[in-house]
Amino acid sequence: MTNHLSYFECHYQPGCFWVLSAEIDVAVQLLLKLKTDYKHLTGQDYKAGCPPPENVVNQDNGAATDGIDEEDNVDPWNVSTSNAKGVDYDKLIVRFGSSKIETELVDRIEKVTGQKPHRFLRRGIFFSHRDMHQVLDAYEKNKSFYLYTGRGPSSEAMHVGHLIPFIFTKWLQDVFDIPLVIQLTDDEKYLWKDLAIEECHRFAVENAKDIIACGFDVNKTFIFSDFDYMGSSPEFYRNVVKIQKHVTYNQVKGIFGFTDSDCIGKISFPAIQAAPSFSNSFPQIFGGRKDVQCLIPCAIDQDPYFRMTRDVAPRIGYPKPALLHSSFFPALQGAQTKMSASDANSSIFLTDTPKQIKNKINKHAFSGGKDTIEEHRKFGGNPDVDVSFMYLTFFLDDDEQLEKIKQDYSSGALLTGELKKILIETLQPMIAQHQERRKQVTEETVKQFMTPRPLNFKL
Ligand code: TYM
Repeated sequence: MTNHLSYFECHYQPGCFWVLSAEIDVAVQLLLKLKTDYKHLTGQDYKAGCPPPENVVNQDNGAATDGIDEEDNVDPWNVSTSNAKGVDYDKLIVRFGSSKIETELVDRIEKVTGQKPHRFLRRGIFFSHRDMHQVLDAYEKNKSFYLYTGRGPSSEAMHVGHLIPFIFTKWLQDVFDIPLVIQLTDDEKYLWKDLAIEECHRFAVENAKDIIACGFDVNKTFIFSDFDYMGSSPEFYRNVVKIQKHVTYNQVKGIFGFTDSDCIGKISFPAIQAAPSFSNSFPQIFGGRKDVQCLIPCAIDQDPYFRMTRDVAPRIGYPKPALLHSSFFPALQGAQTKMSASDANSSIFLTDTPKQIKNKINKHAFSGGKDTIEEHRKFGGNPDVDVSFMYLTFFLDDDEQLEKIKQDYSSGALLTGELKKILIETLQPMIAQHQERRKQVTEETVKQFMTPRPLNFKL
């Protein structure tokens, strides 16, 4: 389902009369329902102009939610579904109007970079995109691009789920050899949480250490706190105000669900998350150039910000940012929600000790195993709902080993306790190594990354 307008883009075209909005709404909802029904009936994505194949098979995957009125809830603040397998990402692609990362795109990335695709691509963990083919077309013609991602520093400790976009961004930086900007939205956290400005700023600096520990190249990476950078960069602030002028309250209300009692800081904040998508927000990096293409890797919860950004971009004379979306690293208790810092028992933190990791997994990781060993041996476990297995798909790099674990668990040869042990032995060294790398990050290193300066790259 490539090249069609997103929900928001369909909604607002300059010159359209807003009175048509209600009718367009109904038409869009109908279209989306037809597309999801088509997928449900045929098992294939709808393609304009292609009649459905004959002898279609009804693909009932047993999802607990079905149909648009019972859809999963995914926005920058909440992720929830009633389906134990997690969010239905195919439906989300249809709803958000993005495109699926097909094997063809993964193969193309491999061809263009000459590198084996990252396991997040091989396994469909990054599952959706916007305009990635365009980015590659330009790259093949020696037109490079830059990466932009971010973190909302709401606490000192980040959890393992937060690592997903950063691990992948580091890989993209390495294989494409391109600059990267990382926004720390300490202002966002001040507006949304009951925290002081100083605390949010301190969390930003602490989180920067975890981000740096992912291995980013200091010569190609600029990390910034909004509180610091907004005040020091006239170019950045000008872009924020340009965006603010071109988005109405009605639009942000529609996208983010703001209400009349939300403070005006929240209502104007999306413009601040949008601004780094435009290269002239960073004159120290890109000179005055406003045409450098931006690619944003993030989990799909952040997409509403960038639907808004992509709508506004052509109207203020900038290219639309491209996106790569990841699925969610689930909470320990099950894939009905994402791992979230606000619930300590749902999360494995980057500060956890080996003992805490072991206890949390043994005690809380939702199991797809059977109630008794006898039943498990006889009927096997269900890896599709098993959180330990899901975590291994994110972090165990060896495809063959992962497949063997899946088969053994499904057949009953591997017990839940044994599966959890494999996960514990995968996560303990991974987190210990992260902590070791973080210890090496000095205040001086943080200052280097966070100082506005030229970066070393060829565009
Ligand atoms: P934040 O701090 O909520 O999350 C930081 C990044 O981590 C992703 N993420 C997850 N990915 C997989 N599984 C999870 N359980 C999980 N939880 C969070 C988020 O999608 C995000 O990519 N407003 C943003 C900060 C921000 C930003 C950006 C993020 C500013 N500019 C540009 C991405 C791209 C926030 O509060 O992220």
